[in-house]
Amino acid sequence: MKNQPKNAYFLTPVTFTVVIGGFLFGYDTAVISGTISSLQSFFISPRQLDPSTADSLLGFAVSSALLGCALGGFLGGWLSGKIGRRNGLLVAAILFLISALGSSMPEFGFQTLGQGDHQSLHLFIMYRVMGGVGIGLASMLSPAYIAEIAPSAQRGKLVSYNQMAIVTGIFIVYFINYFIAAQGDQEWLNSVGWRWMFASEAIPAFIFLTCLLFIPDTPRSLILRQKPEESKSVLHRIYPDVEAIQIYDDINHSLSQNQHKPLFSYGKKLVIVGVLLAIVQQCVGINAVLYYAPEIFKSMGDQSDGALLQTISVGAINFLFTFIAIYTVDSWGRKSLMIWGGIGMATFMIGLGSCFYLSISGSLVLFFMLAYVACFAMSWGPVTWVLLSEIFPNTIRNKALGLAVAAMWIANQFISWSFPLLNNQETLVALFNHGFTYWIYGAVSLLGTLFIWKYIPETKGKSLEMVERYWTTTE
Ligand code: BGC
Repeated sequence: MKNQPKNAYFLTPVTFTVVIGGFLFGYDTAVISGTISSLQSFFISPRQLDPSTADSLLGFAVSSALLGCALGGFLGGWLSGKIGRRNGLLVAAILFLISALGSSMPEFGFQTLGQGDHQSLHLFIMYRVMGGVGIGLASMLSPAYIAEIAPSAQRGKLVSYNQMAIVTGIFIVYFINYFIAAQGDQEWLNSVGWRWMFASEAIPAFIFLTCLLFIPDTPRSLILRQKPEESKSVLHRIYPDVEAIQIYDDINHSLSQNQHKPLFSYGKKLVIVGVLLAIVQQCVGINAVLYYAPEIFKSMGDQSDGALLQTISVGAINFLFTFIAIYTVDSWGRKSLMIWGGIGMATFMIGLGSCFYLSISGSLVLFFMLAYVACFAMSWGPVTWVLLSEIFPNTIRNKALGLAVAAMWIANQFISWSFPLLNNQETLVALFNHGFTYWIYGAVSLLGTLFIWKYIPETKGKSLEMVERYWTTTE
């Protein structure tokens, strides 16, 4: 099957619309970083709590969106089964919009606008959780949508655009926060500036919402929702006529016996493999590096400005190396990228841990960290999402992908919570001088690589229905 797109004018705008979901995923997870000290001064300090209660309340407020992410990932499968992929994304866009405006003015409806105080903290948390549900939904639905609409020869590349969008969102919000913070002094930032940081997200959320109104649902989702004619018409916009009919028959056949099969219909192994893949992507430690980069650099004795610059270089490398995946994932294949990337990540993480162990600081630390991020960006970052969106058969994709994405967000929360604890644990510091945590991430990268090599099938160039047949023949 050649699978060449008949109409790039259709696939390009559709893909660009859907990856705004990925952009918002990155934007929303990172926007909070610029607001932490203001949230402390606005919501926490006036309560005059003892230091440890104050710290945990701040920690909860900052990480509350992650709770919503796990919930959103889990609900994504169920929701899109009911209303379709496109409409599921619409719900995510609405949640992003409400969350952006609500988090910036949590007192709305209860106190005079702009005059709210620390008493609106519970409302702020509620809006952040709503945004988190939006992220969870988008993180599951955007790659699933693209995988279902993309011709197999381009699927890896098109799904990887979503990762590019996530990384762009993380990178851009960093500059937006910086620009907003530069508009006033610390006092202004603590009372007004932080509100603008959250409110700024309303712009991409509104664009997302509007663009979504112009795209159709995916052919597979339309058949699942008993809309065969609409499905055929979407396929005809992507493929030459004969091929469109052939693909329609293939999808229809895969869905014909039972539209929504139980989760383990293709055996437990497939579901466990998918969920583990999602968990391992987090346990290689990428978000410990991304979320704590400025702190890590500061702890190595760098001045604030130097730390800032190095954090920007981490973001830039993450962005640039994603291109390698985009241009190679459909030719070199998913497995080789994951395996070589995993070996690289393990090597540089072990190197990074050894620097800390041996108290080496300076450019070698920066080199190991950037090299690790580069390896992640060209492999486990995008390709995990490519694999997750294509390894599950049509009839269980909603449930299984929802479960894997929820597990990924829980693992994310675990890693972000445990990193500072492990990194500052007295005995570990006495024995390994801050090297231990990085060695663990290095070991997980190595185990993850073995896991890919042994359990993940190569999906390059296969239609989703062909991947599905792989599981029925090997189970
Ligand atoms: C991961 C995120 C991570 C992002 C950054 C994604 O593939 O799922 O947890 O923050 O990449 O590059």
